[in-house]
Amino acid sequence: MIVAIEGIDGAGKTTQARRLVRFLNSKGVSSRYTSEPTGSGLGKIIRAYLRRGGIDPYLLALLFAADRVNHLNKTVKPLLQRGYIVVCDRYLYSSYAYQGVMTGQPLWVREINRMAPAPDIAVLLDVTVEEALRRKEKRIRFEDPSFLDEVRREYLRLCEAGLMVKVDASGGCDEVFAELLRAVAPRLGLGLDP
Ligand code: TYD
Repeated sequence: MIVAIEGIDGAGKTTQARRLVRFLNSKGVSSRYTSEPTGSGLGKIIRAYLRRGGIDPYLLALLFAADRVNHLNKTVKPLLQRGYIVVCDRYLYSSYAYQGVMTGQPLWVREINRMAPAPDIAVLLDVTVEEALRRKEKRIRFEDPSFLDEVRREYLRLCEAGLMVKVDASGGCDEVFAELLRAVAPRLGLGLDP
């Protein structure tokens, strides 16, 4: 199973995804944390472009899709074959949301990502842009609040379309994790006890 944790920059994805992996492993459910953009050469190129800014949004969309192919082939699929639950800190719907907004071509973004299987469970850790910017101490890449708000709206549309489950991520870490578990545990056939 692929469990994707999504949200705008500053939503707390990394903390919650890592915590979910620890929880699952403690319950005897073998799981692994992984993330996109990846740590591969391609992921490094993407980060360098993001830092520099001004990259063509279509090129960026293709780079994210290419990094995803690599991630699937090198990391995700081998883990799935070994029976692991793969918890992805960002995955396919990051491209649907960010690149959909950046290119204004959501259908094209879906098309170039057709090789990526839909996640079995996708969670939107939802926070307002105001809250996300307040939390994020390091400079964030896509820091334009109106852009992030559009991305958030796109994520919320994916929730309305039934592709993702929305979790209110405005609370404290423990509170958000409890809500995350409520959203994913039944789908994984697990109880909620910590
Ligand atoms: P982020 O999760 O912040 O990675 P890290 O903290 O390891 O640098 O991702 C970097 C940025 O990439 C983030 O602003 C969202 C963006 N992104 C996309 O636009 N599309 C994608 O498909 C992915 C995976 C990320």
